[in-house]
Amino acid sequence: MILQRLETFFQPVLSRYTSEPEKFLGMLSRCADPKFGDYQANFAMALGKSLGKKPRELAEEMAAAVRENPAAVEMLEKVEVAGPGFLNLSLRGEWIQRQLENARRDDRLGIPAVSEPKTVILDYSSPNVAKPMHVGHIRSTVIGNALYRILKFLGHRVIGDNHLGDWGTQFGMIIYGWKHFRDEAAFEKEPILELTRLYRLAREKMDADAEIADACRRETERLHAGDAENRALWEKFMPYCLEEIDRAYRRLDVTFDETLGESFYNDRLPQVVKTLREKGLATESNGAVCVFLEGRETPMIVQKSDGAYLYATTDLATLQYRMEKYQPDAILYVVDHRQSEHFEMLFAVARLLGMENVELRHVRFGTVLGEDRRPFKTRSGDTVGLEGLLDEAVERAKKVLLENEERNIPEELWEETSQKIGIAALKYADLSQNRDSDYIFSYDKMLAMNGNTATYMQYAYARVRSIFTRCGQNPSELSGEIQLTHPAERALAMELLRFGEALEGSVKDYRPNFLSAYLYEVANRYSSFFENCPVLRAENEAIRTSRLLLCDLTARTIRLGLELLGIQVVEKM
Ligand code: ARG
Repeated sequence: MILQRLETFFQPVLSRYTSEPEKFLGMLSRCADPKFGDYQANFAMALGKSLGKKPRELAEEMAAAVRENPAAVEMLEKVEVAGPGFLNLSLRGEWIQRQLENARRDDRLGIPAVSEPKTVILDYSSPNVAKPMHVGHIRSTVIGNALYRILKFLGHRVIGDNHLGDWGTQFGMIIYGWKHFRDEAAFEKEPILELTRLYRLAREKMDADAEIADACRRETERLHAGDAENRALWEKFMPYCLEEIDRAYRRLDVTFDETLGESFYNDRLPQVVKTLREKGLATESNGAVCVFLEGRETPMIVQKSDGAYLYATTDLATLQYRMEKYQPDAILYVVDHRQSEHFEMLFAVARLLGMENVELRHVRFGTVLGEDRRPFKTRSGDTVGLEGLLDEAVERAKKVLLENEERNIPEELWEETSQKIGIAALKYADLSQNRDSDYIFSYDKMLAMNGNTATYMQYAYARVRSIFTRCGQNPSELSGEIQLTHPAERALAMELLRFGEALEGSVKDYRPNFLSAYLYEVANRYSSFFENCPVLRAENEAIRTSRLLLCDLTARTIRLGLELLGIQVVEKM
């Protein structure tokens, strides 16, 4: 990987001037303007002052030192000092070509697996079941799954765990509804529909009548206490709840290694509270068992005065279980930003319990908004069901495809293609956003043929692939080498070689949008390559082959990149 390699050249040089070279390595970056070079660094400006040296002189010294390193000379054509002390670096054409050759002969496109794999638990999707999945579930599911795929590709041991909310008050409500208002025939026919009806009914009645609210709460308590009737009802309902979410996961092409819901930890909850007490971490306050944390007014409550355990208690039990079972290096929670406080407290308590050597991260995300900039709702004010959302995306994808005059989708692939385009649009719209921000849900934007959308990326891929259909050649049968004869080829090549960097960048702070931004850049550079450099009508056979090879590497980069985001490509569209 280019940047990493450049770092190895500058690391020792920087150490001559500072005891903390790592702090400065981050200043290595790509040149905004290729006129000046491919990469640049302004170490000298940053270091010059404190060393009492002129930055330009310092830069000259560094440049000279790097030029003495044979490995650097092999890679770099120029190491130049410019202006007040910038270092401009240009890569050698032959070096770039060699890397491209490596990449194209490798299924992993030249990206090595990490040398020190980590064990990472990814807690994602984690919906509260027995309620229909809705728009709010997209983010965790889609972002979590992209991180899962990328981390795994990079060679880490990743455990995707769907921490279902399968033990909450919604079950008390449904059980109450079942006992009083059930329609068994309806349940036989459409179990989830009936459960949803009962849930909504209970919700309404609860809101109107405090006694019913109490009754629902008691049903939850009974379930938690092991009451046989309620337990049996829970067991009766659960398979349908799981089937419901699995249908969504199948359509979204999302899988998990574990699906351990809150119910799984029920028996471990008393022990959590006991441990916290024994360690002197928990105290009683107004009858509730609480952990007070330094610098925080509100404590983490782990048991209510009526004996009930809470979300936090379950999360502590889950944490202990995961630590014992997997000894993970990191646990990532892909959860809505509104739970930030919960996770801050959870992690603080984890540290108090001695879990020091694990990276605990709340990978948080903002809200999905409607075009009116308020949380996305249907006209009737309901939150939008996920199934309906997916269906609509597919319907709209069909329209967009029909409008494309260059469309060349074979009849028998029409349905499958629309499915892939629609679902991809929905997923990518989420993945291309900075996850911290809220984003506006818009079918028109997500299915636009231009701009950073899945539709554009899929189209870009299909267009590259169509070159091979047109010339009837199979990329794997091309014999020849990649040579860079035009600046647009070089620009594309440089971008293709940044794939590994983009993947590393996207897991550094767990941001899949780094990868989507990278792929978009690849597609753009491909466009300008394609405008400037005739492929099938290149001036000679060697250049034609070289350009076809570049096309193929572009297609494979886009395909793999999209796959790691959980987005499928189509060959024709
Ligand atoms: N079920 C929770 C919700 O829907 C999310 C769970 C996230 N994971 C966790 N370990 N707390 O809000």
